[in-house]
Amino acid sequence: MRKPVIAGNWKMNKTKLESIKLVTELRNLIPRTTGVDIIIAPPFTALTYVFEAISGSSVTLAAQNCHWEDSGAYTGEVSPPMLKDLGCSYVILGHSERRQYFGETDSTVNKKLKSVLRSDLIPIMCVGESLEERRQEKTFSVVEGQMKKGLAGLTSADFSEIIIAYEPIWAIGTGETATPAQAQEVHQLIRKILGELFGKNKAVQTRIQYGGSVKPENIDELMAQEDIDGALVGGASLEARTFAKIINFKPGD
Ligand code: 13P
Repeated sequence: MRKPVIAGNWKMNKTKLESIKLVTELRNLIPRTTGVDIIIAPPFTALTYVFEAISGSSVTLAAQNCHWEDSGAYTGEVSPPMLKDLGCSYVILGHSERRQYFGETDSTVNKKLKSVLRSDLIPIMCVGESLEERRQEKTFSVVEGQMKKGLAGLTSADFSEIIIAYEPIWAIGTGETATPAQAQEVHQLIRKILGELFGKNKAVQTRIQYGGSVKPENIDELMAQEDIDGALVGGASLEARTFAKIINFKPGD
């Protein structure tokens, strides 16, 4: 029903030549057509080279961030129309590292999301709680707040597609994955909120990725959960064989 979507977020890694090498290795390891949408999010500096290297393959391109204006006096920023121009189809928004280190808030995520949609790009909006928040049993309220504020002012008529990525901060880059059951209960909550905001149809259609120490060893079990429709992979997407194994996960029954 929902096509699985596996994305590799390279974060601030890979030079031009390293990017071309990685993506060329990857495309040789994955079938030309798969039942999975495959997305790579290299740093801005490698977007053009990766776009050329994926041409004719089933891999598509994402950016890791953007500004909310189309152009103007915003030194150092990159806008959605510029990303579209380079061949991007998706933009990751509100990653916890951007919230933590670069002062992003639900309100800036909201502005970026609307701007991304205006440029006909698909946003991948990240939400997720910290370890402290989980310990205090605030996971549901934190995720609900991020969802409602990040998506504020949108109606179901405003977009054909958005992707949500649930990334518990305590599971990012730590080797500690949320158990499939822990992830599923938050994904279920996210789908319920999508239903409240945009109606049942949109909620059923929307793909929700899990992110946080996804690896070949845990992808099958995660993907077997009812509301987990894909993965947003960090570290394990930096090595072609490992990422290909994740893309080639074994679907459950
Ligand atoms: P890791 O897979 O390295 O834990 O990173 C997850 C992530 O932040 C993807 O956006």
